[in-house]
Amino acid sequence: MNYIFSYVNLFVNKVYIRGGIFIKGLFITGTDTDVGKTVASTLLTGYLKQKGVKIASYKPVQSGADTLHGKLAAPDVEFYKLANPELNDKEAYTYLFKKACSPHLAAREEGIRIEQEKIIDHYKQLEAKSDLVLIEGAGGVIVPLTDAGYSMLDLMKELAVPAVVVARTGVGTINHTVLTVDKLKQEGVPVAGVVMNRLHIGDPAVELDNQWMIEKLTKVPVIGVIPYMDNPAEAIKNPSLLEKVFSKFDILEEIAIDKQSSSFR
Ligand SMILES: Nc1ncnc2c1ncn2[C@@H]1O[C@H](COP(=O)(O)OP(=O)(O)OP(=O)(O)O)[C@@H](O)[C@H]1O
Ligand SMILES: [Mg+2]
Repeated sequence: MNYIFSYVNLFVNKVYIRGGIFIKGLFITGTDTDVGKTVASTLLTGYLKQKGVKIASYKPVQSGADTLHGKLAAPDVEFYKLANPELNDKEAYTYLFKKACSPHLAAREEGIRIEQEKIIDHYKQLEAKSDLVLIEGAGGVIVPLTDAGYSMLDLMKELAVPAVVVARTGVGTINHTVLTVDKLKQEGVPVAGVVMNRLHIGDPAVELDNQWMIEKLTKVPVIGVIPYMDNPAEAIKNPSLLEKVFSKFDILEEIAIDKQSSSFR
């Protein structure tokens, strides 16, 4: 049995971001709730899987559970399955709450206190069995997980992973995106990139200028631009769309994947 595990480990991929920094996780955050973090994370999963990277998708806290086949289900995890059908529910989230609101309140309503240690342990387990863990927050950066105000930002700092910021393409996005990136940087969280998401069809000239100004003010590259999709669930199955979204995401310069690793872990 040990021989089998050793053989598999020979082909472990390593993922790097700019500057040759080796990473095991990326925290997908955003400028707001409903900005497209789940869609961006699923597209990135599909894209990196095409490059041979073994991805673990992780939603530490999901509020607003759905009912599926008579059981509670995490809607974001159901969406990840479009790119990662083998995903195991229990591995993909730690906390699942019924009320669709901030995690601290959703937890309080069910008499539960979110413990960051459980999330960190869960993350470490996923880290050990994948090349890269894509962790999705809830809402934006300053979202409380506990009544004491422990936030998504605090969690990112403890997990010690870089962030990817998902932002709208349209009017108003410069302010939200620059504030989010600045706060992350001030708190010492490296920002690997911004993903611009075209949630609504807007004026392309405005959208292009927004992208340019965001890169100029944040000094962080826009690593993906997601088009408006009539049916995101269908679109995500299209390999050429994945290539198009991340076409600026130069695999060698932005995330370099080293398939030659022969280290035993
Ligand atoms: N590019 C797009 N084109 C069309 N619809 C989109 C696009 N991106 C996201 N959506 C839709 O917008 C909604 C919100 O997207 P998503 O669930 O990814 O947001 P989120 O940031 O993950 O939200 P939450 O904070 O609840 O986790 C979904 O219904 C999704 O299908
Ligand atoms: Mg989501």
